[in-house]
Amino acid sequence: MYIYLNTDFVEADKAVVHVSDLAIQRGYGIFDFFRVMDNVPLFLEDYLDRFYASAATMRLDVVLDREAFKSTLFELIKRNNLPMSGIKVILTGGNSPDGYQISKPNLIIQQTALKFPPDTVQPEGIKVITHEYVREIPNVKTINYITGIWTQKKMMEQGAADVLYHMRGEVSEFPRCNFFVVKQDGTVSTPSQNILHGVTRKHVLELAKKKFTINEEVVTVNDVHQAREAFLTSTTKRIIPIVQIDDKRIGDGKPGAVTLTLLQDLIALEREERERSRLIKVL
Ligand SMILES: Cc1ncc(COP(=O)(O)O)c(C=O)c1O
Repeated sequence: MYIYLNTDFVEADKAVVHVSDLAIQRGYGIFDFFRVMDNVPLFLEDYLDRFYASAATMRLDVVLDREAFKSTLFELIKRNNLPMSGIKVILTGGNSPDGYQISKPNLIIQQTALKFPPDTVQPEGIKVITHEYVREIPNVKTINYITGIWTQKKMMEQGAADVLYHMRGEVSEFPRCNFFVVKQDGTVSTPSQNILHGVTRKHVLELAKKKFTINEEVVTVNDVHQAREAFLTSTTKRIIPIVQIDDKRIGDGKPGAVTLTLLQDLIALEREERERSRLIKVL
């Protein structure tokens, strides 16, 4: 297995960064993550847009321009030949002389095998709990997942599968997923603020717009209690129905029709994207 590190493809167990890296010293860095299916990176342009935007906001230089970046990714995919996988692109604060200044970032591109959630998750749905927190610099995909990792114990003790962040009753997102509700009038709503703009969220909104009324707006915990359906979205999970929040059942406590329709539409969109990429390769 190869990892791309700064300028070279290196064997995974030889890919090392120095302890002076600002990611280790201060937790300073960004990353992005996308899926590869049948050796095709899905929705790559969306992820690259977000990666370069995160890097610019965090004052981290990306030495590879977009075309060079894509060539590197395709070469990595070819070398590793892991048809169903995820690619994580990490950009750190770099080897810092004093453990505080940003330096020349280290770029790490890592590919690992990836499975979708087990088949039981979509038909049953999940329970989530709430936690009061807003991510620092929410529109950037930083490497800071401290609260998400720290709340895992509380989540497991309460038999929940994820933790929904809110601040004074306004919900935002999960540590690694975006959030949607279907209201009693059939409209689809998703929080507009204090979120990472998920690529899956973007595609689900585009798909939902074709069939339903959508709103990007303030969503409160009370809205969730009153909702007919709720679900989360992410690159690795696609769409997962949520049937309980804290001790409250959502809707009739079963995955709803809108959620399941959007899941099928998303799977179809991914299929189209794979076909499109294959055609471009042939041409
Ligand atoms: C904080 C946060 N919100 C939302 C998401 C979902 O984004 P995407 O659909 O691009 O995976 C992620 C992904 O890891 C995330 O870290």
